[in-house]
Amino acid sequence: MDAFCVEGPVRLKGDVRVSGSKNAALPLLFASLLFEDEIVFDNVPRLWDIETTLGLLEHIGTKSHWDKEAGSITLNPKVIRAEAPYDWVKKMRAGVLALGPLVARAGEARVSLPGGCAIGARPIDFHLMVLEAMGAEVIVEQGYVQVKAPQGLHGAKVVFPQVSVTGTENALVLAACARGETVLENAAREPEVVAVGELLARGGVVIEGLGSGTIRIQGRAGAMLKRLDGPVAVPADRIETGTWIAAAAVTGGDVRILGSRPQDQEAVLAVFRSMGMKLDVHGDVIHAVAPEVLEPIEVTTEPFPGYATDMQAQLLVACLRARGTSRIRETIFENRFMHVAELRRLGAQVDLQGNEAVIHGPAELSAAPIMATDLRASACLVLGALAARGVTKISRIYHLDRGYSRIERKLEGLGARAWRVSDEATTQPEAAAPSLMQ
Ligand code: EPU
Repeated sequence: MDAFCVEGPVRLKGDVRVSGSKNAALPLLFASLLFEDEIVFDNVPRLWDIETTLGLLEHIGTKSHWDKEAGSITLNPKVIRAEAPYDWVKKMRAGVLALGPLVARAGEARVSLPGGCAIGARPIDFHLMVLEAMGAEVIVEQGYVQVKAPQGLHGAKVVFPQVSVTGTENALVLAACARGETVLENAAREPEVVAVGELLARGGVVIEGLGSGTIRIQGRAGAMLKRLDGPVAVPADRIETGTWIAAAAVTGGDVRILGSRPQDQEAVLAVFRSMGMKLDVHGDVIHAVAPEVLEPIEVTTEPFPGYATDMQAQLLVACLRARGTSRIRETIFENRFMHVAELRRLGAQVDLQGNEAVIHGPAELSAAPIMATDLRASACLVLGALAARGVTKISRIYHLDRGYSRIERKLEGLGARAWRVSDEATTQPEAAAPSLMQ
């Protein structure tokens, strides 16, 4: 199990190119099961979650070819086994994204329950509610969801009790294959959901209201989607983009972020600007320049277009450089402050009061061994390490390889020193080979 060493403090300076979005690529790859013919994806990030998804698709019966250097994946969609076993879903919670496409294509599915994870219980009751509303029979037993829809699916009106990103993505795919119209209320508006809807629309599904809280889908009554006339481009990762903005903030840096989608970034841009960051946008480039001292802020995480929970941990580190007390309220997941205890080991002063973190800045950080608990927490610990004096060793770094493509190279390009070591080793650079994904 690799660990990651980062030497600080460093002022990040230079250009960094954003990779394709993990949370868009995963549902897009699964949604390809609705297509009859070969389908090609471009701008796919080089991540373990993509490798896991291709492994699961292979198990299902879909052959793939991944050109990692070119960032393209070719899939030949086929379902031989309509199941997502525990061994895959335990590696990647987003395996639940197989549920909608499998039922839509095969009329049945057996998918392992994902279980909780480091950030919360994360139930999938909304996904099951959608299936039942569309006429499927759902049984949960022995850790699996078994779904059957022998008569096919019918359109339905679905009101989500709470905004759910993957819940909406599964619902879109199911509705695309159902008979008649489906209306999704309180649907997720995230750009990743829009990307899935746009893929279905390219395949011939009539969809209205993407990017709004109400989406109407005219189902194709089981018909497969038509061959696409070109590749599907995975949109730029808005969370990676935000992470580089936070990295510039934490290190007092000057970073040009290339290949981003500023239109997906408004809440993040607004929050970091209110902290005093200079953020100039030209086309797909965001130029982030940090001031001498940052101002404290008060932020609440919300579904899109609000401030994303996936950017909470990175913002929290930036607040350590602010002059005064900042407050961040986490409203999406009940246990998403695991990084706070690790940041305290670096010298951060943060109080946790229920779902609110109170961050006292500015802090003098110094290196210490710390441990990553989930993907975004890992990113935040790397940012903390960039600002801390000395060499910080971050264990369980595999979380980072699930979501950040080629992170060492990108950090090096910005003037930082970061390297992998084996978990048992000291902090010597020779001790571990670079990850296969990097
Ligand atoms: N929820 C339920 N029941 C459900 C589904 C969700 O109660 O059936 C609750 C959740 O427990 C949570 C809230 O609804 O409190 C929102 O969860 P959502 O379903 O939106 O989360 P998700 O779809 O499982 C995706 C991202 C997460 C991101 C969240 C919120 C993917 C693959 N994952 O998860 O990304 O945090 O939306 O934006 O798209 C990450 O990339 O690090 C990550 C965790």
